[in-house]
Amino acid sequence: MTQSTSTALQSVIWAGEHLDLLDQRLLPEEIVYLPLVTVEDVWEAIRHLKVRGAPAIGISAAYGVVLGGRNSETIEQWLEAVKAASAHLATSRPTAVNLFWALDRMRAAADRIVESGAPLEAAKRALLDEAIAIQSEDEETNRLIGEHALSLFEDGMGVLTHCNAGGLATAKYGTALAPFYLAQERGISLKVFADETRPVLQGARLTAFELQQAGVDVTLICDNMAGMVMNKGWVNAVIVGTDRVAANGDVANKIGTYSVAVLAKAHGIPFYVACPLSTIDLNTPSGDLIPIEERGAEEITEGFGKRTAPVGVKVFNPAFDVTPHEYVTAIITEKGIVQAPFDVNLKKLFEQGETT
Ligand code: MRU
Repeated sequence: MTQSTSTALQSVIWAGEHLDLLDQRLLPEEIVYLPLVTVEDVWEAIRHLKVRGAPAIGISAAYGVVLGGRNSETIEQWLEAVKAASAHLATSRPTAVNLFWALDRMRAAADRIVESGAPLEAAKRALLDEAIAIQSEDEETNRLIGEHALSLFEDGMGVLTHCNAGGLATAKYGTALAPFYLAQERGISLKVFADETRPVLQGARLTAFELQQAGVDVTLICDNMAGMVMNKGWVNAVIVGTDRVAANGDVANKIGTYSVAVLAKAHGIPFYVACPLSTIDLNTPSGDLIPIEERGAEEITEGFGKRTAPVGVKVFNPAFDVTPHEYVTAIITEKGIVQAPFDVNLKKLFEQGETT
């Protein structure tokens, strides 16, 4: 375990032979990178939220597949190990489609590499290059998302966000937080309200942390304060990330997002969703078909390190909810800003180039 005093926010680092993973459960108090050496290490890190956020989960899984093939001694063994690693990692968390997107891409790359007749060591290197490409493309993608999102904001605006869709959840910049970093670079002043995001507090521990580190004007609120700050006129827009967008534009994101969307509509505030194309799942027709992860009761009953509910109480703890597309003003991707009708326009996004 490596203790770091640096405030670098890169959550996933390929360290030559293994993965160094920022343990996001310990933030903001401790910055600790965990060396992940096996597929099981990566599975466990994803399952237990050491790494979280849809793109970062996909990136970590891609490196997990590389680790799965590391010790193979023949090309046949390697392909089998890579596919087994991919199948196992696919069971780590169900909702973020970026996980399955990255694993599909790694499996397809492995097949291509074998078909090309590459010898074993070259095959291992080529698959690592694919994982590195997934990570570096994510950085460029997020910068473009940030550019498009920033075009919707004006100097002085108040913007509310929920959960953490920032640099920690991606290769860099984040999706929903990308415009805040770009605004900061350009001297555009935005006032961010970060919902603390019960039960695991990604907003308080991660969003408030990374924005504060970057010098962005961020104010932390409890989830149940969002309505009040909107009613006061302090919020001009909401922007959130997502774990999966269905073909009709329904959006799965961290539990509580739906409530924020309803509040935004009630106050006439635009509700934006920022994501890469890899988060859009045209194979899932609508949000009710998106698998929603349920997590352990202890996240709610003992989430602060002490018991805050009676022993034995019944608990419902879905990690995500679905915001129906009627509440979504626009979906901001690396290819541009998509508006309703989402069923038509999301499809177009995959068929053609820029939409704005
Ligand atoms: O349970 P988590 O922390 O993985 O949930 C993360 C979110 O809901 C994010 O908003 C989403 O993955 C988008 S990250 C760019």
